[in-house]
Order: sequence, then structure tokens, then C-alpha cells
Amino acid sequence: MCGIVGAIAQRPVVEILLEGLRRLEYRGYDSAGVAVVRDTGDLVRSRALGKVAALTDRLADEPIDGKLGIAHTRWATHGVPAERNAHPHFSGEWVGIVHNGIIENHVELRERLKNDGYRFDSDTDTEVVAHLIDVFRRKGISLLDAVMAARCELQGAYALAVISPDETDTLIVARHGSPLVIGLGIGENFIGSDIQALLPVTSRFIYLENGDVAKINRHKIDIYDANGERVSRPVKESSAAMCSAELGEYRHFMLKEIFEQPQSVAATLENRLAGDHVLPSLLGAPDALEKLAQVEEIQIIACGTSYHAGLVGRYWIEANTDIPCHVEVASEYRYRRQPPRKNMLFVTISQSGETADTLAALEKIKENHGCMATLTICNVAESSLTRESDMSLMTMAGPEIGVASTKAFTTQLVALQLLMVLLMQAKGADKARVEQITADLRKLPALIEQALDLNPKIEVLSERFIEKHHSLFLGRGELYPVAMEGALKLKEISYIHAEAYPAGELKHGPLALVDSEMPIVTVAPSTGLLEKLKSNLEEVRSRGGELYVFADREAHIKADDSLHVLEVPHVPELLAPIVYTVPLQLLSYHVAVQKGTDVDKPRNLAKSVTVE
Ligand code: G6P
Repeated sequence: MCGIVGAIAQRPVVEILLEGLRRLEYRGYDSAGVAVVRDTGDLVRSRALGKVAALTDRLADEPIDGKLGIAHTRWATHGVPAERNAHPHFSGEWVGIVHNGIIENHVELRERLKNDGYRFDSDTDTEVVAHLIDVFRRKGISLLDAVMAARCELQGAYALAVISPDETDTLIVARHGSPLVIGLGIGENFIGSDIQALLPVTSRFIYLENGDVAKINRHKIDIYDANGERVSRPVKESSAAMCSAELGEYRHFMLKEIFEQPQSVAATLENRLAGDHVLPSLLGAPDALEKLAQVEEIQIIACGTSYHAGLVGRYWIEANTDIPCHVEVASEYRYRRQPPRKNMLFVTISQSGETADTLAALEKIKENHGCMATLTICNVAESSLTRESDMSLMTMAGPEIGVASTKAFTTQLVALQLLMVLLMQAKGADKARVEQITADLRKLPALIEQALDLNPKIEVLSERFIEKHHSLFLGRGELYPVAMEGALKLKEISYIHAEAYPAGELKHGPLALVDSEMPIVTVAPSTGLLEKLKSNLEEVRSRGGELYVFADREAHIKADDSLHVLEVPHVPELLAPIVYTVPLQLLSYHVAVQKGTDVDKPRNLAKSVTVE
């Protein structure tokens, strides 16, 4: 989704801006652009449809540069992907702006500005903001005051960066809903939608709060809150390693991230397991265990892959505690009336911590005092969700660049196991059971390593999928959401239509689709529901379906011409969803590679969905 970079320095900034944009490419976009105030005092821009590489080529042919600049990768919301809709947008020669988010009242504002004589060159909601700022600038006030005045008229979500040749020592930014961070340099300062963009130039950051506006000079930063009061926001030193966003020996980030899972899972467990229990300190709240002891109900909210993690979590929590657990996608939950609930723990799950719908659901529950405490399972420290929640359980996946989530998902599952054990401890569960689970969790990195050994076999198998247009994924119990995640991966990156079903539902509809053209992928560990699942496989086999079954030896599933078995290591039942996810990730990866799709940046998708 849209990415913003900006810089105000004593050196030319275009190269810094382009590198920042490259580092934001993982978010997904369709066009890119950069604008600078030249040393001669004029505002100029360069924009290109397609990748940042296309913008780089254009700049090589027609160079522009300056010591004050803004840049953007656009993910189309208002107006088709086209150069004229690419950011930065200008109001005449005086205001240059980049924007992430959606201005909801742009239609009324556009009409008003047209009546005032403004001409529109794009179909975007952003150009409206540029002209609106110009309306105030013309009154002779500073750029900061003009942005402050304009924002009072904006409805919706935005992160904005604004420059003007009127003030060559000023970069103005504003944040409402969409994330924005300031990077601190020496005699130079930067802004970005996330720290990834700025890691080559700084490791010191200020995270703006909702409603903040900042005036950034080369040597000074002034921040004002939603009421226009001067405020100071803490400077945070980031330990995020720049090299983690490098490909290394791997062809794609997705493959690299799949293979990083033993380490990221180990990191998520590290320092969190004592001899025979889970340490409550991992929630970062001194009274965490007392709070959990009062929990009578849990509501999990998330989107996409994180939602699937939540669905697995529900099976685990309800099987091991007496706490009812509900799971819902954020985009539905946020618009639904909620009956009041007693002693509810509200849990959000998110890789980025910036997903607009998930954040809105959290805001809603807080506004309505609808829960006892909020907790986020999140991969990005200092993200909006971690800052807005009472407690955070951080996944330690490290930066995830591939749009299709892999290591973030498995670490979310690990975090849900940790939460489940903490709830068990808080509710006084059987100590031997807690000890058994913590002992099993320690085996997880090694079990994932073993699952990764399936890679060459899965690569061979994937050839059978490249001509297919449809596929079915089956699972039962907590392996059903794993099948959902497997289907999501395949459709996201290979563009093959993939649907997941709880295997018991097969005969209520999808069986009608089964023929020799339909590959049916099944996850079948030897757990309690195995015999039921085997009957479901027979239903498929007798209709000529082509089955691909991931199972352990103990499942005793016999291969034949139409039933291919891939042997997964035997795992404790509670860990099966985590380990069985790995071969499904590898399957979709290899199918996508063979189909020649853009694996790390699939069409139309974004890594972090910061607009509704
Ligand atoms: C986008 C990404 C998915 C991700 C979802 C939720 O759709 O492409 O990979 O699962 O957003 O993102 P979050 O950061 O909240 O986990």
C-alpha cells in the first residue's frame, strides 16, 4: 500500500528518496514519483507508472535534484493506475504533496475548489488536499499553519508530507490514521511510512501519534498534537538490522522467509519459557497474570493471514481452557453492533500493526469500553496497534518483505500457544499439562527444520499444478484454518483459484466440483480426527479426484496413482498446525515460481493495508 519518503538535508536527496522507495516496494504499489524544491527555488517532479526502476530510468534521462524532497509509491484507490494519478501532486507551482490514506469528503471539497477556480489534473483525492492547502497559503500564512488549517476540513485517514518553494527549509507532515515516522539525522532529517525506508540513513526515530502535525527543518523538529499544542514525542533507537531486508542467497524473499522459520520461531520462544511454564512478563504488563485470571471471554480480531492464525488460536484456547473464544475479520466486526460482554479480553493479531480495519476495530472497542483489556499479537514494535493496546505479545519474526505472509503466520501461532499457556496458568490448570506443552514447544524449531527438508519433493510435485485453474484444500479441526491459509497462499501468489473446506463439509457442495482436473490438497496429521478425514478422502477418491495428502507415517495413508502422500514428521498434536503450514507455503511458492508470477509482489495486493 502507498509508501511515503521525504528528506530535508544539506545534500541532494533524490538518491536517498529512491532508495527509500525501493525499500518500501514490498508494500505493493502501481506507480512511483518524486518531487524536489531545486536550489533555484522551483518545485519539480518526476513520475512513472510501474516499478521504482521505471522512475529511476526516467530520472537518469531527465535528472532533477534538490535538498528538500518527497517521494511516493502509489497503490490506486481513487483513479486508475496512471502517471497523471501518481504522486506527488501539485497545486500550481507552490504546493507539492504525497499522501497515504483516503480522504472521505474529497467529492465535496473538489466541487468547492473547482468553483474557486482550481483545475484538477488527476482523479485522486490527494490533489484536493494540495489545492486546499494552497487556499490557506494564499492568505499569507506559513506552510505549517496552512496544513493545520486544511486538516480541519479533511475527513478520513491520512499521512501527508508537504513541501513548497515558499519555504525551502521546511518539510511539513501530518498524521491521522495512517502511520508516519520521522528519522533523525545530523543536520538533516527524514520521514517515512515505516522505518524500513529510512534504515540506510538513520536508526533514530520519532513515531508520530494520531492527530500530530510536525514542522521539520534541517536542525529542528516541532511537533503539534491534534489540538495544536506543542508536544514532545520520545526518540527511539531502532535495532532493526538493515541487512534483514536483503535477499542473500535466496531467489525470493518469500523463500528466504519460509526458510527463516526455525530461527523466527526460536526467537519468539526465547526468554519466554521457564523450566516448566511460560513467563507472564512476556506481555509487558506487571499485572498480566491477574488480568488474565479474570478473563471470561476472548474476542480475536484480525485480517488476512493473521485472521487464520486467530482461527487456529480459537481451537487451542477452547480445547485447553474453559474460556469461550470468538474470532472475526476486522472489516466486519468494526461495523457490527456488539452486545456488551463481561470480562472480555480483546485480542488483535497483525504482522504490521498498521492494518486500518484492525486498528478501527480496536478503537471502537476502546471507545465503547467494551472489554476488560486489550492485547495485540504483533510483529512490529512501536506500531500503532502496540501503542494503542494495553498489552503486547511481540512475535519475533523480524521484517517480513514478501507480501504473502509466511514466518509472521507461524510466529503468530507460537504467540497464541504462549497466550494459551498463560491463560491456563492464570486459571490454575494442571501443572503437568502446562509442563508438557512447554516441553513440546521447545521441539518446534527442529520439527520445522525437518518439514523444510520436504522442499525438493514439493518442488517436483508443484509441476502438477501449473496447468490447473482451481484447487481445493481440506482439513479438519485446527487443521481446517491451516487449509484456509494454504489456499490463501496459493491464490495470492500463483493466481490459481483455491478454496478451503472443512473436510466434513465436502458432501454439502464442493464434492460436485471433484473430477480428475481438480487437485485436492489435504493436511492429515495422525490426530484425533484422522479416521473421519480418511473417510472424506475416500469420498473424493471414488469420484476420480487427484489427492495430495500431507501426513505422517503414523497416519497410514497409502499412496496410489491418484493419491500422492508427502510424509511430514510426526509432531505433538498441538504443534501440527504450525508444522503442517510449512509444506503448504512451499507448495504455493514453487507453483508460483513455475508459473512465472511476481512471487514477492503479487498483482493487486499490498503488504500493509493502511486504508479501508
Ligand atoms: C494484507 C497482507 C496479508 C496480511 C493482511 C493483514 O492483506 O497482504 O499478508 O495477512 O494484510 O495484515 P497484518 O499486517 O494486519 O497482519
